[in-house]
Amino acid sequence: MAAFCLFVIGIIGFFAFLPIFSTAQLHSVSASQSLNHNQTLVSPGRRFELGFFSPGSSKNQYLGIWCNIPDKTVVWVANRVNPINDSPGLLTINSAGDLLLLSHDNRTVIWSLNLTKQVESPPILLLLDSGNLVLGHDRDINSGIYLWQSFDYPTDTLLPGMKLGWDLKTGHNRVVTSWKSPDDPAPGDFSWDLDLTNYPQSIMRKGSEKYYRGGPWNGIGFSGVPALKPNPVFNIIFVSNADEVYYTYELRNKSEFSRIVVNQSNYKGQHYQWREESSGWVMFAEFPRESCDNYRTCGINGNCNPGGIPFCQCFKGFEPKSLESWNQLNWSEGCVRRKPLDCKNGDGFITFSGLKVPDTTNSYLNTALDLKECGELCLRNCSCMAYTSSNISGEGSGCAMWFHDLIDIRQFLSGGQDLYVRVSASEIEGKTWPKVRKSIIISCAVAVAVAILVAAYCIHKIRTKEVEKKGVNLEIDESNQGRTDDMDLPLFDLATIVNATDNFSIDNKLGEGGFGPVYKGRLLDGQEIAVKRLSRSSRQGLVEFKNEVKLIAKLQHRNLVKLLGCCVQGDDTMLVYEYMPNKSLDFFIFDEKGGKLLDWSKRYQIICGIARGLLYLHQDSRLRIIHRDLKASNVLLDEEMRPKISDFGMARTFGGDQTEGNTNRVVGTYGYMAPEYAIDGQFSIKSDVFSFGILLLEIISGQKNRGFYHQHQGFNLIGHAWRLWKEGKPLELIDPLLGESCVVSEVTRFIHISLLCVQQHPEDRPTMSSVVLMLSGESDLPEPNQPGFLLGMSKISYQAKSTSTNIDSSSTNEVTITLLEAR
Ligand SMILES: *[C@@H]1O[C@H](CO)[C@@H](O)[C@H](O)[C@H]1NC(C)=O
Ligand SMILES: *[C@@H]1O[C@H](CO)[C@@H](O)[C@H](O)[C@H]1NC(C)=O
Ligand SMILES: *[C@@H]1O[C@H](CO)[C@@H](O)[C@H](O)[C@H]1NC(C)=O
Ligand SMILES: *[C@@H]1O[C@H](CO)[C@@H](O)[C@H](O)[C@H]1NC(C)=O
Repeated sequence: MAAFCLFVIGIIGFFAFLPIFSTAQLHSVSASQSLNHNQTLVSPGRRFELGFFSPGSSKNQYLGIWCNIPDKTVVWVANRVNPINDSPGLLTINSAGDLLLLSHDNRTVIWSLNLTKQVESPPILLLLDSGNLVLGHDRDINSGIYLWQSFDYPTDTLLPGMKLGWDLKTGHNRVVTSWKSPDDPAPGDFSWDLDLTNYPQSIMRKGSEKYYRGGPWNGIGFSGVPALKPNPVFNIIFVSNADEVYYTYELRNKSEFSRIVVNQSNYKGQHYQWREESSGWVMFAEFPRESCDNYRTCGINGNCNPGGIPFCQCFKGFEPKSLESWNQLNWSEGCVRRKPLDCKNGDGFITFSGLKVPDTTNSYLNTALDLKECGELCLRNCSCMAYTSSNISGEGSGCAMWFHDLIDIRQFLSGGQDLYVRVSASEIEGKTWPKVRKSIIISCAVAVAVAILVAAYCIHKIRTKEVEKKGVNLEIDESNQGRTDDMDLPLFDLATIVNATDNFSIDNKLGEGGFGPVYKGRLLDGQEIAVKRLSRSSRQGLVEFKNEVKLIAKLQHRNLVKLLGCCVQGDDTMLVYEYMPNKSLDFFIFDEKGGKLLDWSKRYQIICGIARGLLYLHQDSRLRIIHRDLKASNVLLDEEMRPKISDFGMARTFGGDQTEGNTNRVVGTYGYMAPEYAIDGQFSIKSDVFSFGILLLEIISGQKNRGFYHQHQGFNLIGHAWRLWKEGKPLELIDPLLGESCVVSEVTRFIHISLLCVQQHPEDRPTMSSVVLMLSGESDLPEPNQPGFLLGMSKISYQAKSTSTNIDSSSTNEVTITLLEAR
């Protein structure tokens, strides 16, 4: 107590001499000095400054370190949780050698180091050019011995030279934690640390939950960040020994500025580099980058492949735990083994490449073993599920093994490492068939194949006969006749169709539709027809077929393909359409030659025609019909290139005002499906509007939404269009084949409309009647909101709107983008 009073008196004494400091900048603070709110402590090379500041719009004062650059980016804060809110603060060193932050008038200690070690002589406080604030004795500081250093207590920023990870001797863990908000440096709920498992891994957490796993150090970088490679800007350093385990990085050019910040506003770790030329920070890297990076996206034993459809996949030898939820794109339950492991004898390994290795919580590391020994060791331990080299630099070395389930694996399109996954021997093709048995199998296979061919030939003969017979029967079958009347449809007899299509000759096959094959035919009077034959093996069944027949029979519109009649004979069912000589839209817009044939005025007409056809389906027809599978290949073109929407097999009718439905079975085509439909099976006329928006973008750009790849990795066509729109250069989207034909004002309007149609929230999307008005230029266009399926992008700036939404909804969103990107 007495010491404290003396100390207080000392401070009062000190203030009496305040005017002595003519300069506001100090180079050190010693026991007899202090730092007030008008002063800063600068590093010798003036790179960093320590002083008092108020973040954002806050009035609170904090003691912090900032880079001495125009925007004075704060990289460290002393009193994160104890702001000074009543008066200017004061930083001083007390007689015990402790560093104290005092509230000036109140004289309470706001923050201190609480050093436990007794110091013999008073230390000094220095700010180094690395940005490290150090307390130590003059003689020691130069040799890097400190009583305390700010680098051991990172806030939201990892500067070059700062360590992320563990001092194993003291048990001290250096964790980087986001600010709560730009106004409040108190710890937020997003943090980055080095997870001290047997095979330590980099982890970002939201609260205590794992959010993103950079993965273990594999000798070159973190397993989950193959993009982080040796580079000309900084050296990457990982140290793991008996005393410490940490990650750090060092700039090659020490006079530059670099920082990795853990950002609460978007749950990203962002690596920035200061650009002198533009006087601003540029983002060097950002993680997590895409949905497959998010922790455990595909559940246990699942592999997240951003190029897959769907992008969660079970490893070979595994299958979805619940096929039903898996098919509904709910992957959380993950995958289970198809066949149990034998363990004692007869298990093997399948090699998967290009991966981020699993969560190392249940792992084992032995750097002395090689890969072969690793595999042998793994095989001997029944709970070992996978292994690989722990160090992939050079030839590869060391051994890492995983026990129990494999969690949080993803596929990289380039980079990534091998993983040897244990499976039952029977899952491994051709593993140990003895030679003799092999030859027997081959001869058996040949015999079976011959038998199948013979059988097929016989069946074909019989079927052809049956077809002829049925054709005859049909004419006298009264019940069939009655059904035809009921459907208001001309009935074709089978013989006519068999004749017209040359007995469904392969030469006449036009393609494979949702139901089954489609054939071209010519009736005796010369009229050309297209015959869609329901294949019984197709996913669509008789019910859908009849549904389509009844619907289309009642629909008449110049932008809908016309149904001429049908043919029903027992199980054999066919639809007869008018023949469209120009096939479907996708043959043109995605093709170099075809694209040239469709200049802007033709595309304009096609777009308007599709819109009118869809509007008719939604509103004007007697029934309300949702198409549910609108896409370029379902838009046929007649001889004058007029569009006709086809394939109503998935349409559903609704009476009255019912505009929404829910289905357990999601049908349709990835790449055109609205997010709410793909994810929840929620469909409405607005899901069709979404598909129309995509089709519009495809017609304008000549690019497929599915399979769209751009140099900005992670963009699909929508994301690309949205980015260009936000950057004010939507015209870059236009198909170069359009050349001079395009009318810029129209194209811009149409791009604008397409972005309105693909907005994430169905209620934001216009109805088709508004779309038709907008297309004609008779309606004002609101600003589009963020599209659905945009994520998976490498840039986050366009998500500003959704940064505060919860992670679940945004990951739902991300989940599907990748579906759409997938080829
Ligand atoms: C000093 O600050 C503390 C905490 O804010 C407060 O409880 C106390 O009343 C203050 N004392 C004076 C003299 O202002
Ligand atoms: C290091 O960076 C500084 C500041 O950007 C620059 O002026 C200097 O030329 C760089 N030195 C080297 C060797 O590149
Ligand atoms: C967080 O990210 C946003 C968007 O990239 C950026 O504007 C902001 O400055 C970042 N915050 C920090 C603390 O770097
Ligand atoms: C298998 O490995 C686990 C984890 O290292 C260990 O606990 C267990 O004892 C091992 N079992 C055998 C049979 O070696």
